[in-house]
Amino acid sequence: MNQSEKIKWGIVGTGDIAHRFAQAVKTVPDAALVAVASRSREGAERFGGEFDIPRRFASYEEMAAFEGIDAAYIATPHALHTPNAILMLTQGKAVLSEKPMAVNLRALDQMIAAARENDLLLMEAMWGRVVPGTLKLLELVGQGIIGPVRGIQAVFSYDMRDEPGHHAFQLQYGGGSLLDVGCYCLHFASWFAGSPVAEIKAVADVGAANHVDEQCAVLLRHENGVLASLNSGMTLRRESDGFLFGDLGYIHMTRFYAPERITVHLYDGGVTEFLTPYRGNGFEEQILEFQRCLRAGKRESDFIPLTQSREMARQMDEIRRQTGVGYPQD
Ligand SMILES: NC(=O)c1ccc[n+]([C@@H]2O[C@H](COP(=O)([O-])OP(=O)(O)OC[C@H]3O[C@@H](n4cnc5c(N)ncnc54)[C@H](OP(=O)(O)O)[C@@H]3O)[C@@H](O)[C@H]2O)c1
Repeated sequence: MNQSEKIKWGIVGTGDIAHRFAQAVKTVPDAALVAVASRSREGAERFGGEFDIPRRFASYEEMAAFEGIDAAYIATPHALHTPNAILMLTQGKAVLSEKPMAVNLRALDQMIAAARENDLLLMEAMWGRVVPGTLKLLELVGQGIIGPVRGIQAVFSYDMRDEPGHHAFQLQYGGGSLLDVGCYCLHFASWFAGSPVAEIKAVADVGAANHVDEQCAVLLRHENGVLASLNSGMTLRRESDGFLFGDLGYIHMTRFYAPERITVHLYDGGVTEFLTPYRGNGFEEQILEFQRCLRAGKRESDFIPLTQSREMARQMDEIRRQTGVGYPQD
């Protein structure tokens, strides 16, 4: 990669989140969106036309073989991240993969092995870790504003029963609320607990027909005694609230996983609000972080390291073991 040139991106998949990424990457300095790959010619042309992307590929394989990109962003259903990322890595492209990185730890380790064998950067698109709100939260907690964190609570639950055929309801694609949105709750807890998870207890409402967890509740006990209570769901609409509790007060966030408004409630009576807007649609910071790593020749991010993605995969494997949700890839 020539340091004086823009980083050239290709997108794999043309669905919802690919749109959000394309909007963001077009505003990031030093980034050029040069390619898109779809399973179909029509999909590639439609997306390419919408975002003025010069190279439009009618298969993922064709884009993998194209030498004109440095990095691929994987925006396909969860279970396809592993084969799609390995396809790109083995053809010399650094990879930013949507969350969760893989459907289980074994599949994630295959991606990591491909990145190491090809000496390339691999990062999970856990965008919320690097938005201004999370950085502010980490700073406030680090300053001891509520004292040491002792309790964590997070809910990420929506209702998409009107789309029963969606891949998020299908086992073969890594369906279920845990992988779709529960992963945000697990990441969030890990950022603030301050010690490793010692114990996991999980229950789930598993769909009788689809066999995925339509709702999932997880309790984590950390080695330092911090307890986290986490809920995910895809058949029940709830507010995406997050709380951090300490002896001196608590912090509340709406959309805890990437907050733009943080409210600190102190038990001595003070309430302080911090506004932490995104610079664009929220995806810019993860793109900037990925590009910083790429230009520095790093193989993983310090903010979203592969050890973090592995620990999340390990926890999700254990939660699914307890709730009886099994994937064909397990
Ligand atoms: N970071 C975030 O905030 C966020 C939010 C939502 C989703 N996500 C993640 O992004 C990934 C994609 O989610 P999405 O909501 O964008 O899904 P989506 O709208 O269904 O798009 C997925 C795309 O993947 C491609 N694809 C390849 N094989 C497919 C298959 N068998 N079935 C369906 N699509 C297939 C399709 O593009 P082509 O037909 O053009 O190949 C499709 O448009 C998921 O892993 C999800 O967890 C992240």
